Amino acid sequence: MLPKHIAIIMDGNGRWAQLRGRPRTFGHIKGARVAKKIITACAQQGIENLTLYAFSSENWLRPVSEVSFLMTLLRRYLKKEAANLVKENIQFTVIGEIEKLPSDVIEAIQFVKKSTEQNTGMKLTFAISYGSRNEILDAVKKIAAKVKFQEMDIQQINEDVFSKHLQTKDTPDPDLIIRTSGENRLSNFLMWQAAYSEFYFTDILWPDFTEQDLNLALIDFQKR
Ligand code: FPP
Repeated sequence: MLPKHIAIIMDGNGRWAQLRGRPRTFGHIKGARVAKKIITACAQQGIENLTLYAFSSENWLRPVSEVSFLMTLLRRYLKKEAANLVKENIQFTVIGEIEKLPSDVIEAIQFVKKSTEQNTGMKLTFAISYGSRNEILDAVKKIAAKVKFQEMDIQQINEDVFSKHLQTKDTPDPDLIIRTSGENRLSNFLMWQAAYSEFYFTDILWPDFTEQDLNLALIDFQKR
C-alpha cells in the first residue's frame, strides 16, 4: 500500500556543498531542484499528500545572507512553478508562521494557493517558518480562548478536536516521514501528527536524493 501522506525533512544541502568546496547556497540551489523532481515523482506515483520542510522556525537564526538566499529560492520556485503545478493538477498550500516572511513571498504564496485551489491531484504543503511546538501552542491558545468565552466545554477537548485546531487540520497525519543526511531526529516537525508515522532515515544528502531513493523508501514502507 502507498502512504497517503509523505512528509520530508530535506536535510544536508550545506554539507553537500561544503564537500565540494562550494558555498552552502550552492547546496540549496541543487536542493530546490531535487525538491521539484521529488514533487513531480510523488504526484506521478499517486501520493495524495506531500509535505516538505522548506524552512524551519529555527532557520531564522542562520546568517542573514543565507536566510535571504533561501527566501530568494522560495520566491523563484513559486514564480516559476505556479504554472507547472496547475498543469500537474497539484494543489499547493503552506503551514507555518507565514506572516514573518517578506511581503512579496507572502503574495507569491497567496497567488500559487489561489491558482491551484481547484486542482484535484496531490496536495503539496510547504512548511515554511514552521515549528511544531509553536503550532501546538497556537492550538492551545485557540482552544483556551473558546473555553474562556464559553464556546467550548473542557470535557469536549479530545484528540480529534485538538487536531482540528492545528494548521494541518485539512490534511491526514503523515504515514511516512523521510529524513535525509544521516540525522535521526524530528527537529520540531509535525510532532503531534507524527504519533503513528513510520520513519525512514537515509544517509544520502538531500541534493543527492533521487526518484530511486524515494522508491526505496516506499518499498521499505510497504514491507512494514
Ligand atoms: C537543509 O539543509 C535544508 C534547508 C535549510 C531547507 C530546505 C531548503 C531547500 C531544499 C531549498 C529550497 C526549497 C525550495 C523548494 C524552494 P541544511 O542547510 O540544513 O544542510 P546541513 O545540515 O548540511 O547544513
